[in-house]
Amino acid sequence: MEKGELCYTGKAKAMYATNDPDVLWVEYLDQATALNGKRKVAIAQKGLLNNRISSLIFQDLAAHGIPNHFIAQTSDYVQLVRRVTMLPLEVVVRNAASGSFERKFGVAHLTRLTPPVLEFFYKSDQLDDPAINDSQIHALKLASPATLTEVRRQALRVNERLSQIFAAMGIQLVDFKLEFGLTAAGEVLLADEISPDSCRLVDQATHRSLDKDVFRHDLGELTPVYQEVLSRLATIEGSS
Ligand code: C5P
Repeated sequence: MEKGELCYTGKAKAMYATNDPDVLWVEYLDQATALNGKRKVAIAQKGLLNNRISSLIFQDLAAHGIPNHFIAQTSDYVQLVRRVTMLPLEVVVRNAASGSFERKFGVAHLTRLTPPVLEFFYKSDQLDDPAINDSQIHALKLASPATLTEVRRQALRVNERLSQIFAAMGIQLVDFKLEFGLTAAGEVLLADEISPDSCRLVDQATHRSLDKDVFRHDLGELTPVYQEVLSRLATIEGSS
């Protein structure tokens, strides 16, 4: 597979075309951002760790009947993925109160949310990713009702499997963010990444943060924390 033109540089990844029009080359960057990109810092190894963690999780999900865009990890910092047309939505699933939910509703940190909460945000740096509901999504023609129903179904299935994976690692999956795309045939396909950048993870025993909150709230060094998540994941997925 040959690396082609740069298509897009995000906050933590750069995407390139390849010689196959259906395949994108994704490079994970040693970089962390907060406050919607307003704070940006170089962090050694972060790209490598997120690439490995995301690759292992996407492989696990596919093996458990949840198809996604992942094709293969080809080097420390690179994975190949299927090209899809991204929906301009962030899909957040919450199993316990934290972050913006905790602030918005004034509930105690880590209060259990049953059934899990599902929220949508409109992806727009200019607008700071505002919360958006179904009727707003439909009126703005961001996704059809059928697409949204399928996104919701897949997000809850991902939650079931991810919660199991992390529980086996001694980690509580508090909440996480997913992004989906549409294939040329119009099928909804899980895309983007699943890593400690996009999940809120706490140690089951100590409630210590094992995710990007360490960076967001200046709780210490990020690299050893992501390394710990990978070590625990590698143990249950049987590889490193
Ligand atoms: O900040 P908030 O509580 O709404 O975040 C919910 C979840 O979505 C967290 O796991 C966070 O890491 C993730 N998220 C993300 N990218 C964003 C916003 C939130 O990965 N732009």
